[in-house]
Amino acid sequence: KTFEHIVTSTNGRLGMIALNRPKVLNAINRKMVSEILEAMEGFDRDNEIRVIVLSGNGRAFAAGADIDEMMDDSSIDLELLNQFTDWDRLAQIKKPIVGAVQGFALGGGFELALCCDLLFASNDAEFGFPEVNLGVMPGAGGTVRLTKLVGKTKAMEWLFTGKRVSAEEALHYGIINRIVAPELLEEETVKFANTIANQAPLSIRLMKESVLKAIDYSLYEGMQFERKNFSLLFSSNDQREGMNAFKEKRRPNFSGN
Ligand code: HXC
Repeated sequence: KTFEHIVTSTNGRLGMIALNRPKVLNAINRKMVSEILEAMEGFDRDNEIRVIVLSGNGRAFAAGADIDEMMDDSSIDLELLNQFTDWDRLAQIKKPIVGAVQGFALGGGFELALCCDLLFASNDAEFGFPEVNLGVMPGAGGTVRLTKLVGKTKAMEWLFTGKRVSAEEALHYGIINRIVAPELLEEETVKFANTIANQAPLSIRLMKESVLKAIDYSLYEGMQFERKNFSLLFSSNDQREGMNAFKEKRRPNFSGN
């Protein structure tokens, strides 16, 4: 399927999505969000795909929501648009999403990066919430996800100043998993995504779900939830395969069911 603002492809077990509005630094308009969602939900249902990789191009992952598109909106326009339900659905994707960030990841672009489960970034990556400079604020989870990730102190500093955070700083605060040279970003991200794609898919799926619940839930509730998923895996073929392979001293061959 061809999209207007993104490019999708498959690479073995990886579903690849690249944002593609390079002239405006991949500014995210509403159509782009719905296309990202459609592509992700498609990969999520596709049994051949195990991991989703999301990337930008050129000078940006994404420089934020499309300012041209929203600048004349009224509050009521935004209320009636109900655009954030697409973002809510992005957070429901079951398969792991690995983001590859090059250049700018600002505003909605940073929020999109924070919707990924794991992030690789090139050393020229810059993260930030410049909304304060526009007289607005993040609306797609920025104040929430950033705070849960780095805590109140740094979240408020970055949100209130709009400052851009380097890849080094992002690594230091646990926002990203790894920094790689720009020319190696795609290759290294794919290599890493493939190591995850070769793991037991149901284990990964239920661990993703459990970790995301852990962010919302109390310790007790989180552990109740974890326990259900732990038990559930004992109905899978891959649990038999994994444990039999261990006893037989061979490598497991996971089928994902
Ligand atoms: C629309 C954008 C854009 C954006 C860049 N462009 N960001 N258009 N929306 N968010 C366009 C520019 O207008 C310009 O178009 C072209 O991309 C290249 O950008 P330049 O500004 O010329 O490049 P540069 O001088 O290198 O500066 C890069 C930049 C700057 C620092 C990233 O573009 C910038 O500050 N962009 C806006 C960042 C921002 O405020 N993002 C938050 C948006 S609010 P022309 O036609 O002039 O060549 C938000 C709220 C999220 O995200 C709400 C939930 C979805």
